[in-house]
Amino acid sequence: MTFPELKSKMRIFEDLYYIFLPKEGHLVWRYSTWNNVEILDIEAYKKRQGIGSKLIKRLVSDLDKNPPNNILGFTKEVNEDAQAFYKALGFELSSVIKLLYRRGGVVFISPYKKLRDL
Ligand SMILES: CC(C)(COP(=O)(O)OP(=O)(O)OC[C@H]1O[C@@H](n2cnc3c(N)ncnc32)[C@H](O)[C@@H]1OP(=O)(O)O)[C@@H](O)C(=O)NCCC(=O)NCCS
Repeated sequence: MTFPELKSKMRIFEDLYYIFLPKEGHLVWRYSTWNNVEILDIEAYKKRQGIGSKLIKRLVSDLDKNPPNNILGFTKEVNEDAQAFYKALGFELSSVIKLLYRRGGVVFISPYKKLRDL
């Protein structure tokens, strides 16, 4: 493989994608390996008003034409709000991985197809 070919193969991982809903919240994602989508940041500027769910639904709808295998991400073990949120939306949570973050973290993951039913 040449270096330009390698760069071209990795190109898909270079971009970040933003869903920005002014005064509501944001979600930032990127492609990961094996056609997975990784959520890097999600925030609802006002909590428990359905904004987080709306952002996930928007992500799912944006990906409809080119569906990934899974949507996944990492969250801190101490972030119980986020874990409750992902669980409520049907994501699977891993057991605590002590090496993730300073005080441990978990992986959240869901097949893309399952999130289509939200
Ligand atoms: C995680 C976050 C994005 C959730 O957004 P949200 O708009 O508050 O979530 P929603 O209103 O869509 O909640 C959907 C469901 O998730 C569950 N849920 C959400 N927050 C919860 C909490 N703090 N405790 C328990 N359950 C919760 C509930 O079942 C909720 O449904 P309900 O309100 O009808 O009971 C929000 O808490 C946030 O911005 N946190 C700070 C940033 C952050 O930690 N991001 C995650 C980094 S990985």
